[in-house]
Amino acid sequence: MQQPIPPTSSYYRSDAAFDWLYPERIQRLSRRHWTPIGVVKKAAQFLAQEPGRKVLDIGSGVGKFCITAAHYFPEVSFFGVEQRKSLHRHALSAQRAVGIPNVTFIHGNFTQIDLTEYDHFYFYNAFFENLDQDDPIDHQIEYSVSLYTYYSRYLYKALESKPPGTRLVTFHSLEDEVPPGFQVVDASVDLLLKMWIKY
Ligand SMILES: C[S@@+](CC[C@H](N)C(=O)[O-])C[C@H]1O[C@@H](n2cnc3c(N)ncnc32)[C@H](O)[C@@H]1O
Repeated sequence: MQQPIPPTSSYYRSDAAFDWLYPERIQRLSRRHWTPIGVVKKAAQFLAQEPGRKVLDIGSGVGKFCITAAHYFPEVSFFGVEQRKSLHRHALSAQRAVGIPNVTFIHGNFTQIDLTEYDHFYFYNAFFENLDQDDPIDHQIEYSVSLYTYYSRYLYKALESKPPGTRLVTFHSLEDEVPPGFQVVDASVDLLLKMWIKY
């Protein structure tokens, strides 16, 4: 007998439910590498203030932030850029499975895309893998402290040139990429999640 197809909204009930969209290896990485659903909701609520805005997830992994945020905020366009081809493919498959239209996944390094095209940004400490290789996503790319510094400075400069009103959410960040013009306007009690606005 054919299994009934679950309603797509049921994926957002919990992290475990959402992770079922992916193969087991990707599910095992979830706790350490993909944003928990509760955090996505808070971050997206802050970033998706006005319809029609474009929000970029820098280092979008398997697409958990973008897909979940897009489900709760259908009038905002979410974009994710991811350097690992295999994760980008998993993001596209998950997007197809839930049938969410307002997400675009880009394969590439974030330094290769035009960051001036996006209004607001989400950043889950994407460059930290260059400093700490405990429980890595894979062994497919090179890690180095100088890459961490290069990426952090690159993002810092891009954010520095954004107009006032630009919103940024950081999760587990060392804040090396946040220029002084950005001020914290809200944060989680443990300070791991921070909401910033450029003044
Ligand atoms: C901690 S994971 C977060 C994934 C996703 N944002 C989420 O919250 O579920 C960070 C991701 O950033 C990606 N990444 C790291 N450096 C990158 C770069 N320079 N350009 C694009 N992606 C990058 C990694 O491959 C990894 O998938």
